[in-house]
Amino acid sequence: MNRSITAIFCKLSLLLLYTFFFIPESLYAQQNIIIPVETGQNAFVLQVNKEKRTEIMYFGKKMNAEDYSTISGQYKQVEDNAGIYNSAYTPSGSWNLVEPAIRITHGDGNTSLDLQYISHQTTKQDDNVSVTAVLLKDPVYAVEVSLFYKVYNKENVMEQWTVITNKEKKPIVLSKYASANLYFIANNYFLNHYHGTWAQEMKPEETKLTAGIKVLDSKLGTRANLFQPPTFMLSFDKPASEDEGKVLLGTLAWSGNFQIEFEMDSYHNLRLIAGINPFASEYTLKTGQEFKTPSFITTYSEHGKGEASRNLHNWARKYRLLDGEGSRLTLLNNWEATYFDFDEPRLTGLFKDAKKLGVDMFLLDDGWFGNKYPRNSDHTALGDWQENIKKLPHGIGYLVKEAKEAGVKFGIWLEPEMVSPKSELYEKHKDWVIRQPERPEHYFRNQLVLDLSNPQVQNFVFGILDSMFIKNPEIAFIKWDCNAVIYNANSEYLKRTGQPQTHLYVDYVKGLYKVLERIRSKYPKVPMMLCSGGGGRVDYEALKYFTEFWPSDDTDPLERIYMQWEYSYFFPVVATCNHITDWSKLPLKFRTDVAMMGKMGYDIVVSKLNEKDLQFSQQAVANYKSFSDVVWHGDMYRLVSPYEKPFASLMFVNENKNRAIVFSYLTNNRYMNPTSSLTPVQLRGLDPQKKYSIREINLYPGTGSSLKNDLVLTGEELMTVGFNPDVNGGRMSVVVEVKELK
Ligand code: GLA
Repeated sequence: MNRSITAIFCKLSLLLLYTFFFIPESLYAQQNIIIPVETGQNAFVLQVNKEKRTEIMYFGKKMNAEDYSTISGQYKQVEDNAGIYNSAYTPSGSWNLVEPAIRITHGDGNTSLDLQYISHQTTKQDDNVSVTAVLLKDPVYAVEVSLFYKVYNKENVMEQWTVITNKEKKPIVLSKYASANLYFIANNYFLNHYHGTWAQEMKPEETKLTAGIKVLDSKLGTRANLFQPPTFMLSFDKPASEDEGKVLLGTLAWSGNFQIEFEMDSYHNLRLIAGINPFASEYTLKTGQEFKTPSFITTYSEHGKGEASRNLHNWARKYRLLDGEGSRLTLLNNWEATYFDFDEPRLTGLFKDAKKLGVDMFLLDDGWFGNKYPRNSDHTALGDWQENIKKLPHGIGYLVKEAKEAGVKFGIWLEPEMVSPKSELYEKHKDWVIRQPERPEHYFRNQLVLDLSNPQVQNFVFGILDSMFIKNPEIAFIKWDCNAVIYNANSEYLKRTGQPQTHLYVDYVKGLYKVLERIRSKYPKVPMMLCSGGGGRVDYEALKYFTEFWPSDDTDPLERIYMQWEYSYFFPVVATCNHITDWSKLPLKFRTDVAMMGKMGYDIVVSKLNEKDLQFSQQAVANYKSFSDVVWHGDMYRLVSPYEKPFASLMFVNENKNRAIVFSYLTNNRYMNPTSSLTPVQLRGLDPQKKYSIREINLYPGTGSSLKNDLVLTGEELMTVGFNPDVNGGRMSVVVEVKELK
């Protein structure tokens, strides 16, 4: 009885919800349909015009709902073509003259598309998250497009994607299929984007956008971010600073080729179209099939880049990054310490070093596999994932056991998507390799890429991890590398199954996600590092499956200050692996302090450390463990930019505002430059009413702090006047703990 009442009640409320959110076609003619998509602070508002076209009417600060209905009347941009510039999803081949979001060749060969509003619906997932879906349809051809806008209220993040469905009787071909189409109206637009190459990732560049189209893109297939990531900041009117200005942070959650276009239209308004790169990627949809694009993720702030980045951090930790709110393992990695040159005794010695250092885990890097072609250099053995019996006669199981006995966990490096031309896998399965059989092979880091569009290859790649875990259930960590780009894009599998070669770039990435999905449904928790010859693959779709990423092979601390600074705008530092290495000869304390502003690890020869360095490092690991919670899960504030001053300062504050860690690093020590911090650094995010004690920590043995002992200041003073960390040539890095005094 009770049950049936509940059921009726549920049905009634569903009906109410339905009528409240769902506007049927017959009604829209009488109404001026406005579709506000709002977060706590912002609004993105769509409006359906008389021709049933969905336009973007507003993007910016949230207002009262009734204000949205009068916005469009204020714009006098009404010439013939105006109604298409701000289309919510710009079609191609009918009346559009600007860059489209979608291009289709219909079953009958026709290339025109128009999209009319059919309905929209908002579904609340919980108190914080809701999804608005807008259904559009071509009035002539049976093609449907659904635009999805998922908003995270508290975090002020919008995630959008598109689903394109072929309801025609014949296959259609998509030659452009963007995830997002946005429109902005401002006086000026400043685009901050990134470029780089191996060991030089995330170099920022800010340009004022001018008439025409600026494109950020990648055509590399795998390791797609090597030259450029799908990540940017867009400031409106004037360049935003850390705490001021209107700024949008955007990133595409896709681990393959991307294209992000910024087009200034004839009104000086800015059109943004972002998605998979359509380059060489025409995609055929059979009758009844749909194509779901990757997510484009944005956050908007009117209070500068700092707030916008904290929005993304909060969102990523809670909703995206695997185990974003959890903790991480500190580790000792052997890559720079041994490269390919190791054997069992050397490794077991390193386990003891890891324990001596105090870290949680030892990570065995490249070089442990391959027998016919042993992996003694980067020319061989990728694909042959069996232990090299000369180096490791007792196998991985023995290492896991020995590590356990030494008191540390054991993690391992894999590069499962790749194959060496000198490998048994290559000899056996040339048909699994991406290559052009008629052309000479081209190698990137002496290797080739396996064809993940092929389900057999997906099984093989899944099997590499699966059998590793089955044989060694105590493996505690995986470093998943990906060192090559795709040359000679061609798939034997697609050819054999009669599918177009233009599916390869897309189906490769989809294949990769299928494998990762399977791994995570069987092994949901094992931490995995996303690595791609450094930072060649860092995006929010891959990070659903990974707990952290390797930002760059460049571990020089000076370079890392800038690189980690830039990554931190888009990714929370709990995901950023920073290792202390011998790449640079800068002081060990400096290297350590820089690594601490994220997930700290080591890649050094512990046995070569002198007594003081060892003592310092042991203390540093213990210090780090005592405050890492604040760094990983606290709010990050960038206080002094190394681009503006000869030092960088940044801090992390915990949720209760009773503990903060402030890092300061000297970045320029030129004579006659203001080499030290001459003026105080104003802190942020504290409680003005609270009193805080200030104490320098992580000091090198035998050195004292130049900061006043027992300094106590109010939050008000720390945020108004600040305090001086006294960074200078003799104190290149300073770590300070700010703690509430009760
Ligand atoms: C890539 C990674 C390094 C290391 C090597 C091993 O370059 O970025 O950290 O794992 O591969 O070959």
